[in-house]
Amino acid sequence: MKKPVKVVVTGAAGQIGYSLLFRIGAGDMLGTDQPIDLMMLERNNEQSLKNSRGVQMELDDCAFPLLNSITATSDPYVCFKDAEIALLVGSRPRTADMQRADLLAANAQIFVEQGKAMNEVADRNIKVLVVGNPCNTNAYIARRCSPDLNPRNFTAMMRLDENRTLTQVAQKANSTVAQISKLAVWGNHGGTMFPDLTNATVAGKPALDLITEDWYVNELIPTVAKRGSAIIQARGHSSAASAANAAIDHIHDWVLGSNGEWATMAVPSDGSYGIPEGLTFGMPVICKNGDYEIVKDLELNQFQKDHIAANIRALEEERAIVDEIIAKA
Ligand code: NAI
Repeated sequence: MKKPVKVVVTGAAGQIGYSLLFRIGAGDMLGTDQPIDLMMLERNNEQSLKNSRGVQMELDDCAFPLLNSITATSDPYVCFKDAEIALLVGSRPRTADMQRADLLAANAQIFVEQGKAMNEVADRNIKVLVVGNPCNTNAYIARRCSPDLNPRNFTAMMRLDENRTLTQVAQKANSTVAQISKLAVWGNHGGTMFPDLTNATVAGKPALDLITEDWYVNELIPTVAKRGSAIIQARGHSSAASAANAAIDHIHDWVLGSNGEWATMAVPSDGSYGIPEGLTFGMPVICKNGDYEIVKDLELNQFQKDHIAANIRALEEERAIVDEIIAKA
């Protein structure tokens, strides 16, 4: 039997948490031979803790053989102690009266606190996936506040955007998602995100030979960018099961490999493609041996460059706001 891996999920009593924890327990994320010490973090208030204890009771009642232990706490220093994987889902939702800067500031506090806690007590090579929005910038904050940890390992979730694009393309091209390769979503998990079909193939043929440019530019790109709002309109709640599924995919591939296929992860830029170093930017990566490599040496056309530039501007604006907050923290 393998040694248990310590996995943290924050926002454990939230919607995504409720979809995510049971799939982690069932072995969907790390494989059915990998035992897990599950650490659930919630806000330090009576209702949140009561709710997370309820989720813990249900996890107990699943009797998952892979769950070696389950701990629910509101203390980040207890939760992150020796943690090797962290899914940072908990965050402050946007309320009607909030400007984007207010949302950034409210969430910055959470990720400053959790970054500092990880820096002090987590495994030095902890792999971090930030799901809570604005996820790219929250991942940047957590990394800045964890200077002693491996900076490469602070990632944010754009896999849901990739998965959404895959299905839209498969439906349009009358194919299956499994037949599609080399698709990526660049940039920020926000309105400017860029689902990129330039290199994509469907059953070995260029995707752009099978669909029209008009559909790609005027339908696909806005549909993917607005999919979150469309789900809220239809369901009355934001995406939860699909977000949890994407988080599972992201960590699964990072730890167990992507079999040579591209996967979209938002990772700290190394300066490739003119993306300023350190921005947490959605990019195509290939995962193997528990690590990821940014796909290199792609020739970018003007359309790609323009979309990437719009995402750089959006993320640089967010970074400027939170840099001030981090400086005071
Ligand atoms: P939710 O509101 O149902 O749950 C959030 C949970 O986080 C709550 O239980 C809350 O008490 C907890 N929380 C808040 N602050 C915390 C802290 N400091 N420590 C621990 N827990 C804390 O929200 P839901 O639907 O689960 O979504 C969570 C986040 O994921 C949101 O920010 C949402 O925008 C984001 N999201 C990101 C997606 C992506 O593709 N990157 C897709 C869908 C959602």
